[in-house]
Amino acid sequence: MKRSLFLLLVAVCLFTGSKNVVMAQLIETPAPPRLAGQTDVLGLTCKPIPTVRVAFIGLGMRGPGAVDRMTHIEGVEIVALCDMLKENVEKVNRKLVGKGLPKALEFYGDEEVWRKVTALPDVDLVYIATDWKNHAKMGVQAMKDGKHVAIEVPAAMSMDEIWDLINTSEQTRKHCMQLENCVYDFFELTTLNMVQQGLLGEVIHGEGAYIHGLQPYWDEYWNNWRMDFNETHRGDVYPTHGLGPVCQAMNIHRGDKLNYLVSMDTKPIGNPAYIKEKTGRDATGFRNGDHTCTLIYTEKGKSILIEHNVTSPRPYNRMYQLTGTKGFANKYPVSGYALDKGDIDPAIAANHENLSAHAFVPDDVKKALMEKYRHPIVVDIEEKAKTVGGHGGMDFVMDYRLIHCLQNGLPLDMDVYDLAEWCCLIPLTEISLDHYSAPVQIPDFTRGAWNRSDKLTFAK
Ligand SMILES: NC(=O)c1ccc[n+]([C@@H]2O[C@H](COP(=O)([O-])OP(=O)(O)OC[C@H]3O[C@@H](n4cnc5c(N)ncnc54)[C@H](O)[C@@H]3O)[C@@H](O)[C@H]2O)c1
Repeated sequence: MKRSLFLLLVAVCLFTGSKNVVMAQLIETPAPPRLAGQTDVLGLTCKPIPTVRVAFIGLGMRGPGAVDRMTHIEGVEIVALCDMLKENVEKVNRKLVGKGLPKALEFYGDEEVWRKVTALPDVDLVYIATDWKNHAKMGVQAMKDGKHVAIEVPAAMSMDEIWDLINTSEQTRKHCMQLENCVYDFFELTTLNMVQQGLLGEVIHGEGAYIHGLQPYWDEYWNNWRMDFNETHRGDVYPTHGLGPVCQAMNIHRGDKLNYLVSMDTKPIGNPAYIKEKTGRDATGFRNGDHTCTLIYTEKGKSILIEHNVTSPRPYNRMYQLTGTKGFANKYPVSGYALDKGDIDPAIAANHENLSAHAFVPDDVKKALMEKYRHPIVVDIEEKAKTVGGHGGMDFVMDYRLIHCLQNGLPLDMDVYDLAEWCCLIPLTEISLDHYSAPVQIPDFTRGAWNRSDKLTFAK
């Protein structure tokens, strides 16, 4: 009798256990097959464009700064400006004229006017800084109309949009770059150079985040697009600033690939409270939690933690942390490096007998390391970038590199697969969260070519 009770219990446990295993099964998101004749755009090069003619769509808070930065780059012509709102277009055009530059063509007035811009004959690059829901469709149309395209973050919000951008870039052979500026911040670039030169050993874990209370901005977004998206979507809706620099340090789709993610969030409190306070409305059913954590596992056995929080009272934080087998780098809230003395250039470590990776290196060692490992792509332009500005200069470095590569017919620093990998957290974290944090597959957006090169390179 006792024995049969025991067997029954074992059977129940096994049954319950197997049910739990079913709950944790990977949710698959397979890559759609390529059309016959379509090939990847890894390392895509196009005919050099000595003078790059740029058209801008979206001139709200972000767009005008991009127009201004472009006026500081030689060999750029700003030929068209477009926004829903007439006053936004005219204001930016007045600035161009005030700088002694030719007046750009103006497009404004309705939600479809941008189609005239992508169709313009004498444009090489369409630069998009509208709200999120317009990014991908504008980018796809611009490529179909024969233009290269640069799209603000996040460039795509759903898997369909991501695959549309990839397929269109592969079919039209046009560049499609996401304007992810944080990979060009000076600490990140320097650290990337350290990683590529082996100073941190093998990077096995990375962290990144977008933690930024947006209360001062919520009312400024055109038509409330940003709060609306958070109200109707759950998950990490702004992952690219955190994920981009970590993926670069891990050579994602250049020898490693993102395999799957799991995500967990808190309940929503801050944003519904903000809505109630501002409008009196009860935002019951508000989808996005205050804080979202996502863990990603890579093919080569590495992990990445990405966080999102745009409502809690916290200092701005993109985390940016790399754990390597020989060293450690961290940017927020305190930036520093931890390395064993033996791993540091003896000339730099000379006066520091007790250096160990148990603490950050002293400030003078950090300064000397950052000088030694300054990234080659900023050596010539760092001073100018800091003068022109845009988040301390990183925005200028991004625009400068984009134009430099187009002018010289070089592959861009970031390709459409980077865009896909960094944006896919938006739809895939939502799937995980809606399934009790189940693991969700991250497809190989290169469809088989993730291992073709073994390292991220910046073309010269
Ligand atoms: N990389 C960064 O550091 C950074 C910083 C801020 C914003 N951004 C991104 O920049 C983009 C714009 O953000 P923002 O803060 O300027 O928002 P915003 O609301 O101030 O500006 C969006 C603009 O797009 C225009 N627009 C909307 N639909 C349009 C259409 N159909 N045709 C033409 N114009 C249209 C609006 O009139 C508005 O002027 C977003 O994707 C945001 O995530 C990136």
